[in-house]
Amino acid sequence: MLYMSKILLRNKDIPNSQSLEVYTGRGGYNALRKALSLPQDDVISMVYESGLRGRGGAGFPAGAKWRMLTKYRVKTVYLICNADEGEPGTFKDRFIMEFDPHLLLEGMLITAYATGAHHGFIYIRGEYDWIAKILVKAIDEAQAHGFIGNNILGSSFSFFVDVFRGAGSYVCGEETALIESLEGKAGRPRLKPPFPAASGLYGDPTLIHNVTTLSYIPFIIGNGPDAFKSAGKAGSGGTHIFGISGHVNKPGIYEYPMGTTLRELIYEAAGGIRGGKHLKAVVPGGMSAPILKADEIDVSMDYQALNAIGTMLGSGGIVVLDEDTSIPMIAQKTAKFYAHESCGQCAPCREGTNMIKYLIDKIIAGEGTAKDIEQILRLCRYIRGSTICAFGIAATLPIAAMIKKFRNEFEALLRD
Ligand SMILES: Cc1cc2nc3c(=O)[nH]c(=O)nc-3n(C[C@H](O)[C@H](O)[C@H](O)COP(=O)(O)O)c2cc1C
Repeated sequence: MLYMSKILLRNKDIPNSQSLEVYTGRGGYNALRKALSLPQDDVISMVYESGLRGRGGAGFPAGAKWRMLTKYRVKTVYLICNADEGEPGTFKDRFIMEFDPHLLLEGMLITAYATGAHHGFIYIRGEYDWIAKILVKAIDEAQAHGFIGNNILGSSFSFFVDVFRGAGSYVCGEETALIESLEGKAGRPRLKPPFPAASGLYGDPTLIHNVTTLSYIPFIIGNGPDAFKSAGKAGSGGTHIFGISGHVNKPGIYEYPMGTTLRELIYEAAGGIRGGKHLKAVVPGGMSAPILKADEIDVSMDYQALNAIGTMLGSGGIVVLDEDTSIPMIAQKTAKFYAHESCGQCAPCREGTNMIKYLIDKIIAGEGTAKDIEQILRLCRYIRGSTICAFGIAATLPIAAMIKKFRNEFEALLRD
């Protein structure tokens, strides 16, 4: 029997959960009080020991990133919350911001205190306009009650937060493109190094975290790193919010321990395949995660286990596809998305993603040849590693995996 965890979603179904009164009534902002009573390094150590890994896709250890910033405390440090959430199939951050905005703000405040930031930004995707308004209201309320502003809760710590709306570009979720966009420039990734921890917003040290990552911080500080670690089944600690969509009976947002199997999530949490059909394939971590076949779903949903079978946890967006799904058509939609979203800065990505889309369109139209399949795979290999940012990887891994695992479906459409 699968029991839903409630670290991040514990307030979601409480009436008026967005209000400061409800949040504080349920213990909210106590973790901030505790953090402010501790030396900054102790707070960083707690996050380090918790083993928390970034939930934005790459899974980089949060504590290690915080430690990189400690040497810059004398300088201006910025904190950015990445709420761009543009990965197809991903919809976890919106639920936290929409139903528990103070949880995110408390996570940002503790993070800012520990790393020496005095100004933070929430970079939210433009399509989440109504959520941006919820956040602005929550910030105003927190400021009116002394949780945000100068000398927070009577301490020497001051912090201000602004909400910045993006304009609907997927690549602006990439941290350096996001910084460019925040600075008012075209959202195009920067070459790394320097990493944002050394030179980020306006050239100052900058810490960027995903909404979900930041929202775990109050729990870790309030309950200790071990409580977080033990909430996960596998080596990767804590819980994960899985957004399950596609051909399931109960699509939605689910919080379960890290290490729950994909089968449990599909058949127990999400109620199995719609219409009693068979499962054909699953995308386990947002559209850029390589697809899995139906016989691979006993995998534990954690970073290591998914990597071991050639895919990734990514952003936690699970897309379930039933037996009637045409994988070439899923590949076509995926290729169209990436060709459209390439920022155009690197020629291999700009030209290559459009060429992949062209070749898949050709195959679907019944005009393709076996050479076209090989050409797509070759393009996927060439694009990877020859772009400034990881967009090239995100655009090509899923297409290559769809062809590798369902090649017969592509071949069945060929002219010859
Ligand atoms: C093309 C691309 C798009 C991305 N989109 C997002 C996004 O929408 N949200 C996000 O949190 N991270 C996104 N990332 C990852 C960020 O660059 C960065 O790793 C993340 O914000 C760090 O936060 P974390 O340590 O909490 O995971 C994207 C990366 C790439 C390459």
